[in-house]
Amino acid sequence: MDKKVLIAAPVSLVKLESFLVGKSLDTCHVATGKGAQLEISNGDYSAIIIADDIENHPLGTVLSYINTKFPDVPTVVLSDDQEIFENFDFKRIKYITRSRNDAPPKHILSLLSLESNQFENSEPLTKTVSDEESIVEDDDKFSRIRIKDFISGKVVQFDVFVKLAGGRYVKILHTGDSFSKSRISKYAKKTDFLYILEKDRGQYIEFSNYLLDKLADKQVPAKTKLSLAKNAMEKFTESLYEEGFEPKIILKGKKICNSIHKLISSDDTLYKSFNCLYEINPDIYTHAYLTALFSSMIAFNSDIKSAASIETMTMAAMLHDIGLTEIPEEIAQKKPSDMDPEELKIYQTHPARGAKLIEESKLLSNTIPQVVMQHHEASDGSGFPRGLKDIRLQMLSKIVFLADSFSCYIIENDLRPYEGLKEMVLDQDIREKFNQNVLRNFIKLFIDPEKRDALGSAYSKNSKVKSA
Ligand SMILES: [Fe+2]
Repeated sequence: MDKKVLIAAPVSLVKLESFLVGKSLDTCHVATGKGAQLEISNGDYSAIIIADDIENHPLGTVLSYINTKFPDVPTVVLSDDQEIFENFDFKRIKYITRSRNDAPPKHILSLLSLESNQFENSEPLTKTVSDEESIVEDDDKFSRIRIKDFISGKVVQFDVFVKLAGGRYVKILHTGDSFSKSRISKYAKKTDFLYILEKDRGQYIEFSNYLLDKLADKQVPAKTKLSLAKNAMEKFTESLYEEGFEPKIILKGKKICNSIHKLISSDDTLYKSFNCLYEINPDIYTHAYLTALFSSMIAFNSDIKSAASIETMTMAAMLHDIGLTEIPEEIAQKKPSDMDPEELKIYQTHPARGAKLIEESKLLSNTIPQVVMQHHEASDGSGFPRGLKDIRLQMLSKIVFLADSFSCYIIENDLRPYEGLKEMVLDQDIREKFNQNVLRNFIKLFIDPEKRDALGSAYSKNSKVKSA
């Protein structure tokens, strides 16, 4: 059967189409993103070419759909916009920035890997790895990590691979092995990266946090610690893409979180306190970053149009638990469910302590201490420290409260984002703690129609709709 290429662009790309037909490829042109998704869903395309100005389902929606449903289909995006490289980061999707009317068809063809025998010509394994376990898997089954981010002597909790020419992966460390630089030195000359299986990403995040925990008391440079934390976050963000969250919003969220982190670093007192979160528990640090990420994603998808408000809220989300550095460490390290009444009373002072810490910094606006103060207040009045109801809470606090609760929920229960949100939506007691508009906006972040619809119908079936 001839290989079939889908071309999605508002107007026909005659030159490109006739070139592909000349190469004995079957082509089909669609003018809208919706049409593209319909065609792709038939599943009989060997490759996809898509222009960045496609409408009626924008580029991000279609790319996310491809990435989720047909991750193995090579895809090329035609764009004149350099920023397209930053906005989307799917492993199998490639980009050309030459004018789409003028994009060199030959180059596109080679990017799509449709040239004959391209896949069959993989190189044989070399003898140096004959005693290792070799597997052939698609690239998107793997997630890469820089070699320098592994630490010698540490036992790894997941299988580790190197990638050889021809797309073969060789398992060089099994779960439970100690990482040793000498063991990988024969590969390190060839590459800066090692690979883990995508399914082990959760293990990797846990492992990074475990290492941070172990390194807390040691004289390890802050840079190494930061790098580990950043890797854990990067891996977590990758899973958001797979879960069908809106890619542009994830990127916007990541960008703002990174700039907020820089801002915090510029204030000595805040930075010191923020880094103390590491020493208490690396999970708290990861959680702070995730809360900031989710808060900003919800805000970008809501009616809040002021960039300054989103920045303020993200800063508050990043710093929301900073008051934990002011209470005894043995209490801060416990889960609230494991605390006795006396400990719980002390724990519940952390919002006020955090707000006070922040008030002392001249860098921040007055809103930030207020949001930090309210980050455990629930819309149904069941929160703390004051048990305020929805009407008395700031909108930014309501967003941070949901993001904070969601981040805690998925970390503690080891759930993927979609599963976590589904459980929260289906549980009436949990659901009613949140502002209903904020919760709806969170659900809207899923662009995978199946997931969004399933969450949306679970939400409307189970909720008595309340006004904000
Ligand atoms: Fe908190």
